[in-house]
Amino acid sequence: MVTFVSVLKYEQLKVNKALEQELAAMPAPLRDIVGHVLMAGGKRLRPLLTLLSARLFGAEGPQLYELAVIPEMIHVATLLHDDVLDGAESRRGRKSAHLIYGTAPAILAGDALLAAASHKTASFNIPSLLTCVSEAVLMTAAGEAHEIALQGSLSHSLKEYVDIVAGKTGWLLKGSCRLGALYAGASEEQVEAISEYGLNLGIAFQIVDDALDFADEAVTGKPTAGDIMEGKYTPPIMKYVDFLSSGEREVFREKFRNGTFTDEDRVRIAADIRRLCFDAEARAMADQYIDKAQACLDALPRRFEQKVFREALDFVRNRKS
Ligand code: FPP
Ligand code: MG
Repeated sequence: MVTFVSVLKYEQLKVNKALEQELAAMPAPLRDIVGHVLMAGGKRLRPLLTLLSARLFGAEGPQLYELAVIPEMIHVATLLHDDVLDGAESRRGRKSAHLIYGTAPAILAGDALLAAASHKTASFNIPSLLTCVSEAVLMTAAGEAHEIALQGSLSHSLKEYVDIVAGKTGWLLKGSCRLGALYAGASEEQVEAISEYGLNLGIAFQIVDDALDFADEAVTGKPTAGDIMEGKYTPPIMKYVDFLSSGEREVFREKFRNGTFTDEDRVRIAADIRRLCFDAEARAMADQYIDKAQACLDALPRRFEQKVFREALDFVRNRKS
C-alpha cells in the first residue's frame, strides 16, 4: 500500500536534486550559508503540496519540480530570518546559520533566496503565479509582524493566535497548494478549494508545531520550550498560565514579558507542561482545522493525489518532529 510517508520520501529525493541545482545557481558568496539551511534535510512538505496539487488538476512532467522548489526556497528564507528574529540557536538539528555566518549574512541569504524564488516564479511567464507567490510572502511577513507586536503578551485571545499562525504559516502552505493548481489551469472553484485546504492544513501544522515546542530537542532539532524564552503565547502556554495560581502567574508574566526565564525555568516549565499534558491537549486543537481542510477535498477530483492530500492531514496531526 502506498502511504503518505512513502510518497513524501520518494519526492524528497527529486525535490532535493532540484534544490541542489538552485543552490548551485546561487552567487558564490551566498552558497555556503544558503546551503547550510536549504540542504539540512527538511521534510519538503511545501514542494510536495505543489506537486500533488498540480497533478491533481492534470499537470505532469519534470517541470513540476521547478515549480515545487519555489515554496521551499521561500520557506527557507523565512527560517533564516526567523532564527535571527528569535535569536534561535539551532534549526533542523544544526547550529543556526546566523550563529555560524553572522546576522547580516543570514539576513542577506534570506533576501537572496526570496529574490531567487521570485525569479524562478517569473520564469514560468504566468502572471497568476507571481500574484500567488507575492501574496503568500506578504501575508507571511504580516503574520510574523503581528506575532512580534504581541511578543511577551499574555493577554491576547486564542483567535488572535490563530490569526498569527494563519499568516506566518498558513499562507505559505496555502500558496504551495494554489501554485500547483494555477499552473495546472484548474477552475476558479478548484483553486479556491485547494487554497482553503492549504490554509487550514497550515494552521493545524503550526498548532502541532507549537505543541512540539515542548518535546526534546533531540527529536525536533529545535530548542525545547523556545516559545517561552521568545515570549510567544501559544496554546500549551495559555493552558499552563490558566493553571497557575495568581501569584505564580504574576511571576511568570513578568519573566515572559521581559524574556528573563533562566534555563532552569525553561526545563522545569517544559516538564510541567508535558506532565500535565497541556502539549497533548493543545495538539488536539488542530483537529478542527484538519476537519475543515478535509471538507475542502470533497469536491475535488477523486484521483490518487486527493487520497495523498487526505493522508497529509493525518501526517500533520500525528507528526512527532
Ligand atoms: C517559524 O515560526 C516562522 C515562520 C513560520 C515565519 C517566519 C517569517 C518571517 C521571519 C517573515 C519574514 C520573512 C520572509 C522571507 C518573508 P516559529 O518561530 O514559531 O517556529 P520555529 O520554532 O520553527 O522557529
Ligand atoms: Mg522561530
